[in-house]
Amino acid sequence: MSNDLKLLQPYQLGAYTLKNRIVMAPLTRNRAATGNVPQPMNAEYYKQRVSAGLIITEATQISAQGLGYPNTPGIHSPEQIEGWKLITNTVHENNGHIFQQLWHVGRISHPSLQPNGALPVAPSAIAPEGNALTYSGAQPFVTPRALETQEIPAIVEDYRIAAQNSMAAGFDGIEIHSANGYLLDQFLHDGSNKRADRYGGSIENRARFLMEVVEAAISVWGSKRVGVRLSPSGKFASMHDSDPKALYSYVVKELNRFNLAYLHIVEPRVQGNTDVEDDGTGLSTQYFRSIYSGTIISAGGHNRETGEKTLLYDSADLIAYGRLYIANPDLPQRFALNAPLNPYDRSTFYGGTEKGYIDYPFLEANQSYQAA
Ligand SMILES: Cc1cc2nc3c(=O)[nH]c(=O)nc-3n(C[C@H](O)[C@H](O)[C@H](O)COP(=O)(O)O)c2cc1C
Repeated sequence: MSNDLKLLQPYQLGAYTLKNRIVMAPLTRNRAATGNVPQPMNAEYYKQRVSAGLIITEATQISAQGLGYPNTPGIHSPEQIEGWKLITNTVHENNGHIFQQLWHVGRISHPSLQPNGALPVAPSAIAPEGNALTYSGAQPFVTPRALETQEIPAIVEDYRIAAQNSMAAGFDGIEIHSANGYLLDQFLHDGSNKRADRYGGSIENRARFLMEVVEAAISVWGSKRVGVRLSPSGKFASMHDSDPKALYSYVVKELNRFNLAYLHIVEPRVQGNTDVEDDGTGLSTQYFRSIYSGTIISAGGHNRETGEKTLLYDSADLIAYGRLYIANPDLPQRFALNAPLNPYDRSTFYGGTEKGYIDYPFLEANQSYQAA
């Protein structure tokens, strides 16, 4: 057994001793029950993956307005809080740690998913390219409604209440989803944010909403139980910016002042859920390491070797695995043994039943492998 892998060494994350440096990445699976309430099948899925040092839940909407896809779980109703307890209880009974990813999709929604058929909201009235995924299939994105300045504090308050609900549901902390083209990311980028108020224009103004949400989250959890996810090279969901390096250098330096649990960076070689060529703009964890003083999680396209190298080169402290964790509930054990990995089935990623969700096989106890 190559238990000398750095990936398998414990890590102190604030008050929590993680049993290894392997993180289960946030993964939307569209399998919540009626009312977007987590159900026992979801608890079984997370229980199977409790081998991770840290589990980050699938993105969870903070409000009915924050919803953008069918059957994604929320954390804004009493039933949802109760549903999440199934998951936090089983993770804790099995010595795991779990943070909840808090989400508002902004313009990546559709009137058929919004309360009273309203338009989705966004920093500016600019439609993304492509289709929304609705209960009646794919439908072209509509032009969203630009939020009024005075509406923004109410959304910050929705984040604060959601953070409280996460605590009531028994989580160990929360991750603010400011990546992959959703509401907070839409505010950061000048391609989607054309506002003339204090939430638009300069980089400082575009980052203001995120900073206010971080402050609201910390007011509930304290800084060491709050993480932030960014995708500095992300072009998913029509994201673009005239100067991403200046934007993210500012945002990351600013986040230093909060003394967060961690900063979670999606590497340039992944867009959303798909591998791409690194765009060469250099917005990787290696760069952010030089300007961020706390714990960094690197995500995107990692396997056993790249994850280990990233830790050994000290570009990050923890490595998140998405697609490999979907298909390999015992991923750390497979890494320890250098065992083969189950391939993932993309057709069962989003929605459906137990198939492709809780039926990926574990290693058989008596199999032996050549450790590397
Ligand atoms: C099925 C699926 C669902 C995803 N859902 C989320 C999500 O809810 N929140 C998020 O921040 N990223 C999400 N992602 C992105 C992953 O967290 C991760 O960044 C991406 O898959 C790249 O990592 P990987 O190469 O290890 O899969 C999702 C990816 C996949 C494949």
